[in-house]
Amino acid sequence: MRVVCVGGGPAGLFFSALLKRARPEFEVVVIERNQPGDTFGWGVVFSDQTLDRIAAADPRTHAAIESAFVHWDAVEVNIKGRTFRAGGQGFAGIARKRLIEILTAAAVEAGVDVRFGTEVTGPAAFGNADIVVAADGANSTVRRAHGDLFGTTVDTRKCRYIWLGTRRLFEAFTFAFEETEFGWFALHAYRFDARMATAIVECREETWRAAGLESAGIVGSIAFCEQIFARYLEGNALVSNAHHLAQPWSVFNTISNERWSLGNTVLLGDAAHTAHFSIGSGTKLALEDAISLAARIASAGDDIATAFEAYEDERRLEVLRLQNAARNSLEWFENVSRYGTLEPEQFAYSLLTRSQRIGHENLRLRDRSYVDGVETWLAARSSLARAVPPMFTPFRLRGLELRNRVVLSPMAMYSCADGVPDDFYLVHLGARAQGGAGLIFTEMTAVSPEARITPGCAGMYAPGHETAWQRIVAFVHARSDAKFALQLGHSGPKGSTQLGWEAIDEPLETGNWPVLGPSRLPYGPQNQAPVEMTVADMARVREEFVRAAEMGARCGFDLLELHCAHGYLLSSFITPLSNVRTDAYGGSLENRLRFPLEVFAAVRAVWPARKPMSVRISATDWVPGGIAPEDAVEIARAFHAAGADLIDVSSGQTSRAARPVYGRMYQTPFADRIRNELGIATMAVGNIYDPDHVNGIIAAGRADLCAIARAHLADPYWTLHAAAALGYRDVAWPPPYLAGRDQYVRNLERSNATGAP
Ligand SMILES: Cc1cc2nc3c(=O)[nH]c(=O)nc-3n(C[C@H](O)[C@H](O)[C@H](O)COP(=O)(O)OP(=O)(O)OC[C@H]3O[C@@H](n4cnc5c(N)ncnc54)[C@H](O)[C@@H]3O)c2cc1C
Ligand SMILES: Cc1cc2nc3c(=O)[nH]c(=O)nc-3n(C[C@H](O)[C@H](O)[C@H](O)COP(=O)(O)O)c2cc1C
Repeated sequence: MRVVCVGGGPAGLFFSALLKRARPEFEVVVIERNQPGDTFGWGVVFSDQTLDRIAAADPRTHAAIESAFVHWDAVEVNIKGRTFRAGGQGFAGIARKRLIEILTAAAVEAGVDVRFGTEVTGPAAFGNADIVVAADGANSTVRRAHGDLFGTTVDTRKCRYIWLGTRRLFEAFTFAFEETEFGWFALHAYRFDARMATAIVECREETWRAAGLESAGIVGSIAFCEQIFARYLEGNALVSNAHHLAQPWSVFNTISNERWSLGNTVLLGDAAHTAHFSIGSGTKLALEDAISLAARIASAGDDIATAFEAYEDERRLEVLRLQNAARNSLEWFENVSRYGTLEPEQFAYSLLTRSQRIGHENLRLRDRSYVDGVETWLAARSSLARAVPPMFTPFRLRGLELRNRVVLSPMAMYSCADGVPDDFYLVHLGARAQGGAGLIFTEMTAVSPEARITPGCAGMYAPGHETAWQRIVAFVHARSDAKFALQLGHSGPKGSTQLGWEAIDEPLETGNWPVLGPSRLPYGPQNQAPVEMTVADMARVREEFVRAAEMGARCGFDLLELHCAHGYLLSSFITPLSNVRTDAYGGSLENRLRFPLEVFAAVRAVWPARKPMSVRISATDWVPGGIAPEDAVEIARAFHAAGADLIDVSSGQTSRAARPVYGRMYQTPFADRIRNELGIATMAVGNIYDPDHVNGIIAAGRADLCAIARAHLADPYWTLHAAAALGYRDVAWPPPYLAGRDQYVRNLERSNATGAP
């Protein structure tokens, strides 16, 4: 077997060494364009746990890498003259040059034919190879020679960076941020051997241009960076090893490939996938790819197609996971200006948790005193005398004081007859109010019979509704500390459909009523085409909202939410996917917002001034050409200007063509963006189910409140149980249940101590 590996970076060298060692009879060649000892870049970092697989695959190389490592434990964040240090981060740095030397030595010793100074320009270089390994980095010539056949996606990001070195020996992994007249600059710096540290400087493309760095060359760029970050360099120079480059500033490309092999060619390391340098995982992924591919080829016999498939199966998920974390991280750095408005304490916490891989309790495990400090700071900001878990800090909106940040998200229960919430609702909402959430929501409550989604939906349009809701509100206020929000809505094009546990969003089998919408576009081919609303229809519906709001105020609800999400009437005006009107209510976003804003203003006018209002929006349609997160910022801005106190940030459900990307807290980035770009309060929702999620979101300032839906169906006492799990005792259980609390806490402590379930 003749194996040609193009590229003598970490991936190609390690792969070749392992394969040749496993199958000495194979001819293994590495073709590398650089000379030995040439390398771009400076040091690379690994997190402590990443090297276990390398140790198992090749103890000797692992030992050589280990002995060249500089270990450190803390991450330091410098912002606005303040320094925050979080320990327990466990990183190791190594010079890229030293790493390449170690891997080259391993390859040569194993008998690999390593040919330096040879550039591969086309297939002729592979000769009669049985296997061609494309380990030639992110811009892989081998991959590009196949045109589109690998299904390559290149996501070109918004920052420019320059990879420099310095003799300033940072003691921690150091981040520093400086705001200039051109915009924000970030420094990522860490020591990688006894003499040198890496210093990567990064800024937005527009900042880079404004600062004149596009044409500054290496000397001008270094002078600029030295001046901005002078206080961290302590008189040490920044140096470059890339004087040969015409443009020393690069753009990061996130590379993905639909397939990693084609015939006898297989992609390895950066040629297959890249992960932004801010999570320090590219080299680790490259080395782990190498282990997997070498093992599969070594044991495959002649069936290389199966070996390639097994390699891809083994690696793809791990790569995807890290690429997701890397995307969160790089987006954070692209948006430093958004977070620059946070107070330094919160800025640092937001940075440390940016990839969503490290949660609040994990951070505490790593460095208890750092997290205690954050909690103490958060508590003081809420005028609390001592630290509490972030979710238990109070929150104020107008005259409404919430005792914590947990919210029962609005959820249709489809259990009303003629819109009347009966005893089921008293028990359902009553139990959840007693379960500890600071705020509970009704489901979307319809402002007219036709405004219901299904025949089982709740209403606020008949006198009987007011009486029924009043009884539930009175119970919640008398028997719990929870505040109670009314969500008002109109189903629009998604009305006249079946109960949630029947065929959701499908028309009724019998007894359908006509539905309204901005345009005659049905939600799906099986749904009714809505009646296109006239201006008179809009005025009527607006008055129905007003009437419902007045009824809600008389019932004693504490907050009113206007439902402008999920494709229901007001949402269907906002998204261009369902609104194709040509009058003043269609066209531009401003026009599409006109009717929802008219309804909002009319409702705000009758809703008591001391009580807050929120608006639920779909921050993206998850459909090309639909609402995108940047539109959501404008939508939020418009409602805020009209008097909304809180934006409840959901997404999707506006089109059957939507392709949402689910995951833990998957909608929280939209709430984060709106909150921190506009400086207004937001509520995050969507796959927030663990107390750690809520603590992290609140501590990082990604949102002000967290709405939890399905987890509350499984556990009405979600918040009380969260408090018990966090060892926080200062929550009010209903007095008749105190004996149950004591036993619950005791058993929890016992199972924590013994590890028993
Ligand atoms: C600024 C920056 C900082 C980084 N920091 C870290 C970090 O701290 N930790 C970490 O784990 N990762 C880091 N990375 C990522 C890391 O550098 C890569 O993920 C890793 O080097 C991938 O290894 P590779 O062998 O797949 O590719 P590469 O290291 O890119 O190696 C490819 C090799 O192929 C050679 N080559 C390319 N084309 C040809 C050709 N046509 N003919 C012959 N030879 C060719 C190149 O000269 C090169 O030696 C960083 C990346 C950047 C850009
Ligand atoms: C059964 C059910 C009914 C729902 N009804 C409503 C509703 O009436 N109004 C609304 O805005 N969202 C509604 N939602 C959406 C939830 O409020 C929430 O946004 C969504 O479930 C994501 O949160 P989760 O991951 O915590 O479940 C409903 C969700 C479920 C599961």
